[in-house]
Amino acid sequence: MKIILMGAPGCGKGTQSPFVTDRYGVCHLSTGDMLRDAVTKQTPNGIRAKSAMDSGALVSDELVFGIVKDSIEKPECRYGYVLDGFPRTQRQAEMMDQAGEKIDAAIMFDTPDEVILERTGGRWIHKGSGRTYHEKYAPPKVAGKDDVTGEPLYQRPDDRREVCVKRLELYKKETQPLAEYYKSQGVFTSINANRIVQEVRKSIASILDPIGVATGLH
Ligand code: AP5
Repeated sequence: MKIILMGAPGCGKGTQSPFVTDRYGVCHLSTGDMLRDAVTKQTPNGIRAKSAMDSGALVSDELVFGIVKDSIEKPECRYGYVLDGFPRTQRQAEMMDQAGEKIDAAIMFDTPDEVILERTGGRWIHKGSGRTYHEKYAPPKVAGKDDVTGEPLYQRPDDRREVCVKRLELYKKETQPLAEYYKSQGVFTSINANRIVQEVRKSIASILDPIGVATGLH
């Protein structure tokens, strides 16, 4: 099963992805996480991506597609994948098509702008695992510490309000139009992501369960 989760920065793609991977046995490919990992390790891709990411701009289509293409060929993705944050441009979507990757479902998380800015502004992350918290909606048991390891949490530099405003503008210009692209392929659904995590999860399951049954994965 090949699934795309689309939506503005902080709409909840990363929060919902583990549910999708657990339920359908697919791998989770977050281009944001993969790029941040490359930046931390100072790989050639990471060095190339860093300044765009810090400023809230998009990394080049070729670089991101290369990372995705390598990842989907790994054994853990043999039953399919959930793409979190990719494609983000028409060119990236076309590159996937040209590579023969047929998408089963593209789910867009619909969330008002003010909610987006509140979610990113309150987000705290555990670096080792990627576990995400929110100081108001999903607080850790001890402020600033990961529930599982007790290690310190951090805030992303691109979650600063001014950078996030820019990411949101770019999302509307480059990524939102992909709704039409996937509608024309008959795989698009938009869901209301301005609800509690469990309710959003139910909407995702109601879209994906029938596809899972059809593909023998659920
Ligand atoms: P990336 O890391 O992909 O950032 P993003 O798409 O902007 O998404 P986020 O990770 O910020 O948010 P999310 O939707 O996963 O939300 P989360 O679940 O954490 O990309 C970063 C950068 O990398 C880009 O700016 C770009 O430079 C580059 N990049 C990445 N992919 C690229 C591509 N394809 N092409 C080019 N460049 C690329 O939730 C957010 C917060 O809200 C959390 O605190 C969470 O606890 C809380 N929350 C979640 N759901 C709910 C809910 N239902 N109710 C209340 N709170 C909630």
